[in-house]
Amino acid sequence: MRIDILTLFPEMFHDVLNESILRIAQEKNLVTFHLHNIRDYSNDKHKCVDDKPYGGGAGMVLKPEPIFNAVDAVEAQGDSVSKKILLTPQGNKLNQKIVENLSEETRLMVICGHYEGFDERIRSGMNVLEISIGDYVLTGGEIPAMVIVDAVVRLIPGVLGGDRSLQSESFMNKMLEYPQYTRPAEFRGMRVPEILKSGNHSKIKEWRKKKAVLRTQERRPDLLEKETQ
Ligand code: ADE
Repeated sequence: MRIDILTLFPEMFHDVLNESILRIAQEKNLVTFHLHNIRDYSNDKHKCVDDKPYGGGAGMVLKPEPIFNAVDAVEAQGDSVSKKILLTPQGNKLNQKIVENLSEETRLMVICGHYEGFDERIRSGMNVLEISIGDYVLTGGEIPAMVIVDAVVRLIPGVLGGDRSLQSESFMNKMLEYPQYTRPAEFRGMRVPEILKSGNHSKIKEWRKKKAVLRTQERRPDLLEKETQ
């Protein structure tokens, strides 16, 4: 998969994309990241990318030209873009289903806004999928972009070593995870449940399922309701 990220702050991404699983995914040639600075696509001699809102009001608004120029130029590189994502608190709220769908694409373009907002023509004049990572307002789309990229890349086949962790997630698809333990068997008086040390795999599977259901009922009953709808 190729992922293009259009941002005013490309530096913010370097550590996140080059550590841990995202670094390994690149080393395995399963994903390539391409960072583009929107400012480079401004026609303005001062490389200005924002301006005061028409009609007055606080803050600055991202101008349409640099973003449209950037999208056109980047889109022309390589294969055609399968999905363009615009990060905005007004978008569809991100969930695992959206992440799964995105992980099947061959090329994504992620556009990060910043400042008070962007010119409305950026959302209406381009075919974009508007995504929010939650009902709170951040200073820009960069952190939401990192969230999406991380969630999507880990689902690309081959990225996670073996698919066992993914399998258990799909088995518990719409539920919270069951409790996990590792060594030591006893820590500060807290013991690992005997069943997990029993070697009885079918009993362990049953226990995990029961715990996942209980935990989901306690903490996120809405997930189970959605299941039965
Ligand atoms: N930009 C600012 N806040 C955001 C949010 N919650 N989700 C996506 N993009 C954003």
